[in-house]
Formats: sequence, C-alpha cells, structure tokens
Amino acid sequence: MKHLLSTRDLDRATALQILDVAEDMAATQQREVKKLPTLRGKTVVNLFFEDSTRTRISFEAAAKRLSADVINFAAKGSSVSKGESLQDTAQTLEAIGADGIVLRHPASGAPAVLAGSGWIAASVVNAGDGTHEHPTQALLDTFTLRRRIHGDGSRGRDLDGVRVLIVGDILHSRVARSNVWLLSTLGAQVSLVGPPTLVPFGIGDWPVTVGHDLDAALADTAFDAVMMLRVQTERMADAFFPSSREYSSNWGLTAARFMVLPEHAVVMHPGPMNRGFEIASGAADSPRSTVREQVANGVATRMAALYLTLTGGAQ
Ligand code: NCD
Repeated sequence: MKHLLSTRDLDRATALQILDVAEDMAATQQREVKKLPTLRGKTVVNLFFEDSTRTRISFEAAAKRLSADVINFAAKGSSVSKGESLQDTAQTLEAIGADGIVLRHPASGAPAVLAGSGWIAASVVNAGDGTHEHPTQALLDTFTLRRRIHGDGSRGRDLDGVRVLIVGDILHSRVARSNVWLLSTLGAQVSLVGPPTLVPFGIGDWPVTVGHDLDAALADTAFDAVMMLRVQTERMADAFFPSSREYSSNWGLTAARFMVLPEHAVVMHPGPMNRGFEIASGAADSPRSTVREQVANGVATRMAALYLTLTGGAQ
C-alpha cells in the first residue's frame, strides 16, 4: 500500500491487515521503551492546512515511536499564506527528502491530487480532506470498536452483524463517510440519523439506512455503538437548524437518551466534542464512552498506517 487516501477503496483483507498491524503496534506501546527502529532514516512531514489537535499530535507521536524524523508544517505562518500552491509546497518537501506526507486540507480530494500528481515520490496519508474522508479516524474507530467487542481475540476478526448508529452532521462529516465505507466493508450494519438539512444529497446510494428521528431509531434497534458527530459550524454558511437548543433536544445524546441505550452499547465521538450540545457530559465521561480510548488507539493505528505505506509492510 503506497498511499492511504480513503476507506472507500480499501478491501476487507487490506482493512483487516491494517487493524491487525495496529494490534501489533499497540502491544509494543505497553513496553517501557515504546520506540521501534522501523522508520529510522525516513522523514515524515505533517502538512496541515486546517486546524487540528488530536490528529496532528497523534501522527507526530506515531512517526516518532517508529523512529522517523518528523517535520510539522502548519500552513498558517508559512508561504502558503503568501499564496504558494500545493504543488510548490509539495515540491519543496520532495526536495528536502520527505518519504511520507500526512496531509490535512480543506479541499476534498487534495490528498488524491497530491498522490497522483507526479510532483512527489513520497507516500501520502490523508489526515482529513474537506468533507470527503478521514481514513485513519475510521480505522482507529473500528479498531476501538473491534476491541470492545472481541477483546484480546480481535486479530483477524471483522464486525459482522455489529449495529452502529452514526448521529448528527453527516453532511459535513468526513468521519461519517470514512466510517460508513469501512464499517460496511467489515460487515457492520450502519444506520445514520440527522436533521434533514444535514443529510447529504445522494445518500440513497450509501450502504446504510437513514432516518431523522433519533428516539425512533433508538427504540427500534438495539445498537452496539452510537457514534456522535461534531456539528461543524465552521463549514456552515447558512442556518441548518433553528437553534442549538432545538438541535440538542432532537439530535443530541442527552442524559435521558443515554439511559435508553442497551446495557452493552458503547458511545463514540471523534473529538473535539461540544459538550452539552451534541453530547451530554454524563455520556461522554461514562465507562461506556470510548472517547479517550479512541485517542489512545489513534497512535497505534497511525503507526500501522505509516509503517504499511512507507515500507509496504516489508520490514
Ligand atoms: C474530526 C475531523 O477533523 O474531521 N476530528 C478529528 O480528526 N478527531 C472531526 C471533527 O472535527 O468534527
């Protein structure tokens, strides 16, 4: 695997390979010395044209644990704000000898353009492109869910028959898109619920069921996992819902809704959370919430992604 651009084009075997390598990486992270020599001599550039806390830190930690040299490049404060193009920026990184470029960009498709451009020889890992995809987020979410369900016996297992509900601002969510493809490929049954204004056009072609009534969905199906999405107000030029109070009361995981979830169901959120808006603190901080596990598992998952793209899994 030279690049990791989306989960839509990952087949089942490759998805399971990444998750199993992530299990191996996670096992090494229990040791006192967490660093592996795997990417010694390689250079990974974190090229971030959009704000990020978790994803950037997580990729940085992953690359460093594999002994790569890491260069963090935020577009603010660089020549990009002087109008330098993605092509010129990429060629600068090529000239300094980057082996891997982890790209977050506001334009959907930017990582695919970079990977297919011929401007660079480096591997490209998509760290979130516009509203399109965020493949490592879906991989770490799936890794987390698989562990909650299969425990130590997770290796080689898929999510056959697991029922997942994804709730909220689906229209703007690259996390939702990447999860829909990956979870379906691994056999999960995915349902989506959100306000009609925040459900994308063309969703009829997705391998999911779609609804607008969260209480009805929760009453109808005993979900194994409920994944709440952040409401992405920064991507909204218009009003997509009347008020935040109305949003919370219709589509938020309130304390009352948290109570009606099946006993075994887990609550997921990619972060950053708007507490009290799309998710109540009681749900976010409960033992059934995987929010912090998701962040911790992100490092092992990104170690797997960097290892497989930069070495092809050969070392
Ligand atoms: C997500 C993103 O940036 O797409 N965050 C993340 O990477 N953990 C989700 C979000 O910002 O809502």
